[in-house]
Amino acid sequence: MKQHTIITPDYRGKLPENYVGLDEAEMIERIRRIKLDMGEALFIPCHHYQKDEVVQFADATGDSLQLARLSAQNRAAQHIVFCGVHFMAETADILTAEAQQVYLPDMRAGCTMADMAGLEQTEIAWEALQEMFGDTLIPLTYVNSTAEVKAFVGRHGGACVTSGNAKKMVQWALNQKKRLLFLPDRHLGRNTAFALGIPLSRMAEWHPQQEKLSEVHVPLEDLSVILWHGHCAVHERFTLEHVAWVRQQYPQMKVIVHPECAHEVVAAADEVGSTQYIIDTLAAAPAGAAWAIGTEMNLVNRLIQRHTDQHIVSLNPAMCPCVTMNRIDLPHLLWTLESIAEGRPVNRISVPSQIATDARLTLDKMLALA
Ligand code: 13P
Ligand code: SF4
Repeated sequence: MKQHTIITPDYRGKLPENYVGLDEAEMIERIRRIKLDMGEALFIPCHHYQKDEVVQFADATGDSLQLARLSAQNRAAQHIVFCGVHFMAETADILTAEAQQVYLPDMRAGCTMADMAGLEQTEIAWEALQEMFGDTLIPLTYVNSTAEVKAFVGRHGGACVTSGNAKKMVQWALNQKKRLLFLPDRHLGRNTAFALGIPLSRMAEWHPQQEKLSEVHVPLEDLSVILWHGHCAVHERFTLEHVAWVRQQYPQMKVIVHPECAHEVVAAADEVGSTQYIIDTLAAAPAGAAWAIGTEMNLVNRLIQRHTDQHIVSLNPAMCPCVTMNRIDLPHLLWTLESIAEGRPVNRISVPSQIATDARLTLDKMLALA
């Protein structure tokens, strides 16, 4: 197990002046040179929502599940510069070896959904739910959560899930215990449980602000799924009205959405799946296929450019950027890479050892099961 020496990354590095306003061609050249010099010692994984200017330097692209797997497998790179958001870099740090260091080019690249479940809130919820349900509850956390929440879930026998394996993991959880607490995305939890045949009436939401369960219309004993009241602000911007607009405007068009969208949007869509699922579905579609996609706009724009023989639009014509994913850009990538090359690295992500050990339980369980 990786032994971490740095406690929380309190260094919130601001881009130094000398990286502001640099010429794009110069930045590209400087990054290329570092990549060439460092070779296999440097690994740059990129999430599908990253900007093209960053993706051009990716050693691998993927959804959260693929990026977690790659982190667990890669033992060659000493430096892993993660182009994604904070929880993804934390996951990579937890899964990599002692000698490997993980960096996030802009430490402000968080995930607003992950931030909706804090450790203290989770402990309060767990205690209250234990009182209501006794030992019949298992926690599951979406990978979009902090290392501290993953560690809590690990200590309580639960596991992690991603949008790519949620069905398998929810089924696994319900084979272990009568009911589950799903953190922190109520939509992914609800959509997944519903797809497994659990009626909406047997799901309730835990409101962390009010520290109480939502109103239910069945006896408490009948509840199977407790959903944390968290969401992704990007995916909540796709609505039923958008689906109706597409159906009217383009009757032949298929609607494909990410499972972080609200239940009514997923129910009205033709296809639902992780970012990689969306990519693979379009790659397998014939020329002339038509799609309205409900996910982050960098990925939608990339798919529009890639499949010029298909008609692709965003499900929300105003498009939906993930502001935090978009914080990673050429200047921040260059700054981080040059700091590593010069031996005074910035933007290191280092999860404290005890948290990493417990959080790893949830990740290892997921990687072994799904
Ligand atoms: P994927 O695992 O499907 O790539 O999703 C990650 C994410 O943050 C979606 O908002
Ligand atoms: Fe988090 Fe939503 Fe951005 Fe995904 S799109 S990283 S869930 S804020």
